[in-house]
Amino acid sequence: MRILLTEPIAAAGMDLLRAAGEVHVAGVTDPAALAAGPLATADALVVRSSPVTAAMLEAAPRLRVVGRHGAGLDGIDLAAAERLGIPVVSTPGANAESVAEFVLLAALTLARQLPAAVAALAGGGFPAGRSLPSSVVAAGLTGTMLAGRTLGLVGLGAIGRGVAARALGLGMTVLAFDVAAVVPPPGVRLVPLDELLRSSDVVSLHVPQTPQTVGLIGAAALATMRPGALLVNTARAGVVDGSAVLAALDAGRLRGYAVDVFAPEPPAPGDPLLHHPRVLATPHMAAMTHDALDAMAVAVARGVLGYLGKGRSL
Ligand SMILES: NC(=O)c1ccc[n+]([C@@H]2O[C@H](COP(=O)([O-])OP(=O)(O)OC[C@H]3O[C@@H](n4cnc5c(N)ncnc54)[C@H](O)[C@@H]3O)[C@@H](O)[C@H]2O)c1
Repeated sequence: MRILLTEPIAAAGMDLLRAAGEVHVAGVTDPAALAAGPLATADALVVRSSPVTAAMLEAAPRLRVVGRHGAGLDGIDLAAAERLGIPVVSTPGANAESVAEFVLLAALTLARQLPAAVAALAGGGFPAGRSLPSSVVAAGLTGTMLAGRTLGLVGLGAIGRGVAARALGLGMTVLAFDVAAVVPPPGVRLVPLDELLRSSDVVSLHVPQTPQTVGLIGAAALATMRPGALLVNTARAGVVDGSAVLAALDAGRLRGYAVDVFAPEPPAPGDPLLHHPRVLATPHMAAMTHDALDAMAVAVARGVLGYLGKGRSL
């Protein structure tokens, strides 16, 4: 049995796969390169965040399962997989805690203007003869707390819930909007999207990218948000209209934007989102902790082996 990985995963998952079959790491993510060779003999395919196209699946006559290391299946041609009868497994929830911690980190970083403060200190931007704290105030680097403020979660799944628990611990009021009939955890109030946008000091996005969520946060949604609000996007680039965000930042409506996801990835070096002083742009790293990488690797290996009929003894 041949298990093809586009890129390596954490050792805990690699070990499980190696115990079950012959593991090959392609070391490429380009669909055409994968379809041209390595997929021809693969019984299973494991990808991280790279695409799985119809052409890839059609080039893999032996393929019995696709494993996605992570959450979010937007990069996988699910219609083609269904047409070809190839199941797709992912690792829902395995990285939720890691992303949830990152969301709070990003919100606090924006709220406290941390990158500007760190750069000012390193650049000798504070005068001698004056206390540093008062220089911080004079430099306009005063921040705001999250305690006592309102967080709006768009999407109340695994990550949204993780963020809610942490935000409640910080003393925030937590609102959420979800299309599914979810039962909110204690302390979280479900509201319509409009009300969430109008009432939140921090809006954080936790929906998958689907035809319904593409462009969900565009000019109209941004105009509905509280002046001075912060927006955090660890979901997917397509959920937010980046140009509208830049316009809202420049108009002084939006105070800050934290973005971890781009289209394409990596973003072009000239992408204005990477260079705006009030944008915290990070390289799709919200789930990249050792803890989450181990959890995702084990979960995707178990999922794939389950479909290959080797999972029962795990
Ligand atoms: N930046 C990162 O590293 C990273 C890591 C993991 C996940 N993600 C992204 O975060 C997303 C959410 O992850 P999760 O684990 O919480 O997923 P999840 O499936 O547990 O939760 C998603 C929630 O969104 C809701 N939803 C779907 N469509 C909606 C809509 N149109 N409006 C409102 N709610 C809607 C669903 O009902 C569900 O409750 C993933 O799909 C992925 O795109 C990013």
